[in-house]
Amino acid sequence: MKTVAFFDAKTYDRESFLRFKDDEINIRFFENKLNADTVSMAACCDGVCAFVNDTIDKQVIDKLEEYGVGVIAMRCAGYNNVDLKAAAGRIKILRVPAYSPYAVAEHTMGLILTLNRKLHRAYIRTRDHNFSLDGLIGFDLRGKTVGIVGTGKIGRCFADICEGFGMNILGFDPYENKEFSGKYVSLDELLGNSDIISLHCPLTKDNHHLINDLTVGKMKKGAYIINTSRGLLIDTQALINGLKSGRIGAAGLDVYEEETSLFFEDYSDEIIPDDTLSTIISMPNVIVTSHQAFLTREALDGIAETTISNLRAYFAGEKLENEVTL
Ligand code: NAI
Repeated sequence: MKTVAFFDAKTYDRESFLRFKDDEINIRFFENKLNADTVSMAACCDGVCAFVNDTIDKQVIDKLEEYGVGVIAMRCAGYNNVDLKAAAGRIKILRVPAYSPYAVAEHTMGLILTLNRKLHRAYIRTRDHNFSLDGLIGFDLRGKTVGIVGTGKIGRCFADICEGFGMNILGFDPYENKEFSGKYVSLDELLGNSDIISLHCPLTKDNHHLINDLTVGKMKKGAYIINTSRGLLIDTQALINGLKSGRIGAAGLDVYEEETSLFFEDYSDEIIPDDTLSTIISMPNVIVTSHQAFLTREALDGIAETTISNLRAYFAGEKLENEVTL
C-alpha cells in the first residue's frame, strides 16, 4: 500500500477522489496548502498530491526528496507553481493536462454575460425591491469582436461558444491550431480591435504581466478584459489604472496575481490585508471569482480519475503519460 499526502483538500476533493479511489493507494487529506512550513506533513509518504496555490519551490522539493517522496501529482493542468529545475531527476511531476475545458470556457462566458448585462447589480437590486433599470444598459454580443489570447483546449472551446453568439473571433497564439474557429492576428492587432479580450494561455517566464500599462494603452477604449488563466498574466495596478481611466470597460477575474494566501478560504469575518484586491472588488464593473472556473462535477471527476491513474502508473513503474519535464 502506498500513501499519498493530499494538500489543500476541500470537501469536494474528498468526494471526487473517494469515488475514484484505488485499493493500493491510501490518501491522507490535509487542509493545509503545501509550502515550506507544511511540507513535514508529507514525511513517511510515498507521494504528494498538490493544487494551483501550493508552493512547490526548491526548499519544498529538497525536503520531499529527503522524506523519500518520489512523485508529485498535480491535480490541475497548470504547473507554474512547481520549480521544475529543482525537481528534475529527483521527483516526478505529473499533471492532468485536460479534464473539462468546457468548465473554464463556460465560466468565461458567464463572467462576460454578468458584466455586460449587469446581472450582479440587478440581483442585488431586486432583492431590495428596487426595480429600476437605470445604469443596467448592456450591449449585444452579436457582431462584437472577441480576442482570445491562447487558442489551446480552453481557448478553442471558448471560441466555439462565442461563435454561437455571432461574434467575430480573433486569436493570438505562437502555435497556431487548425481547429481554431477564429482568425489569427498579432497580439497588437488583437488588443486594438477586440471589444472583449480573454486570456487562455499558460503562465510562462515570457508572459508575466502580459497585460501591463503599455498593452492596456493599445486596447480599444472600453474593452472588457477577462482572465480565467493565471493571475500573474495581469499587472493588477495597470488594470486598476485602465479601469479608472475608462480604457478598460470592465474586468472579469477568476484568478489574481496575489491569490495564493486568500483564494479557496473564507475571510468573510475579517478585513483582508490586500488593499489592491479590496480596490478592484469594490468597482461596480469588476467581478472577481476565486479560481472557480474549473469547478463542475464533470471536471472534478475528470481530475480525480486522471490523478489516481497517474499515481497508479507511477507506483506500478509504468510509462507516465502525463509527466511534466523541463
Ligand atoms: P493548452 O495547453 O491546451 O493551451 C494553451 C495555449 O496557449 C497553447 O496553444 C499555447 O501555444 C498558448 N500559449 C502559450 N504561451 C502563449 C502566449 N504567451 N500568448 C498566447 N498564447 C500562448 O491549455 P488549456 O487547457 O487551454 O489551459 C489554458 C490555461 O488555463 C492553463 O495553462 C491554466 O493556466 C488555465 N486554467 C485555469 C483554470 C481555472 O480554474 N481558472 C482551470 C484550468 C486551466
